[in-house]
Amino acid sequence: MTLYDVPAPAKLNLFLHVVGRRADGYHLLQTVFRFIDLCDTLHFDLRRDGVISRATELPGVPEEQDLTLRAAHALQRATGTKQGVQISLEKRIPQGGGLGGGSSDAASVLIALNKLWGTCLSRRELMDLALPLGADVPVFVFGQSAFAQGVGEDLTAVTLPEKAYLVAQPDASVPTPRIFSAPDLTRDSSSITMAVFLASPTSRFGRNDLEPVVYRLYPEVLGASRWLAEQGILRGTPVRMSGSGACLFAEFSELSEAVLAEAEISAIMRGADKTFSQTHPRFRLVQACTGLA
Ligand code: C5P
Repeated sequence: MTLYDVPAPAKLNLFLHVVGRRADGYHLLQTVFRFIDLCDTLHFDLRRDGVISRATELPGVPEEQDLTLRAAHALQRATGTKQGVQISLEKRIPQGGGLGGGSSDAASVLIALNKLWGTCLSRRELMDLALPLGADVPVFVFGQSAFAQGVGEDLTAVTLPEKAYLVAQPDASVPTPRIFSAPDLTRDSSSITMAVFLASPTSRFGRNDLEPVVYRLYPEVLGASRWLAEQGILRGTPVRMSGSGACLFAEFSELSEAVLAEAEISAIMRGADKTFSQTHPRFRLVQACTGLA
């Protein structure tokens, strides 16, 4: 038995503009994906019998929808390899939170099995296998923070300044298709060039066009966002949603600042009187983390 451990990082969308819609209903976006050091860990146990299986159940995710298994099958089909694998997953990235956890897990499966099976596909070929698994999967195969266009597959690497982030998870599960199909979604934001973004302070640039729809449909996300933004420790730092939510984040110059904000906000939440827990929006702090290159 040979076991291999591979990390799969989460992403934040520093901004997300919807600039159009394709005939098939998918939306044309402009966004910057930034990876953060909040990671799931995947364990691979190679099998010689060609079977692809999972050792861990994902609550609410049946086998046929499990992106890790679908990624492994896609690579097996594309290359004709006779090898198999048992995959287990240590989940730390909140599921369905707009942090790309499932997409990142799938990309890590493609990259890792391509090495472990010796199937030798190029990164470009892996990215082509990634796109049918989900619009956010190619950027994780790409492997670095990127300015993304198209539905998320047209990627240009960007070097971002060192920053830290505090991530919070409101108590809401937001299905992405519901947000993209909302009649009131802005679909005609004007396109920008990457240079415009790079010339601006990262946390202050642009907006997430999906926020107004999520805030309307899920008032607990709006409540959490407003409550966080009112805390003195954030000192006017914008609170923004990642992807289609529900996770929120605030950007800091240093990890120590994000850690301090995390400690102070946790203390407020813990120390507040009983009425506070009944009246304040329900959310949890995920963690303070560093932005990756
Ligand atoms: O590609 P993925 O499975 O992550 O997308 C989930 C849903 O989000 C799609 O079925 C589509 O409704 C919507 N979507 C979209 N435009 C994108 C990405 C996702 O409309 N660029």
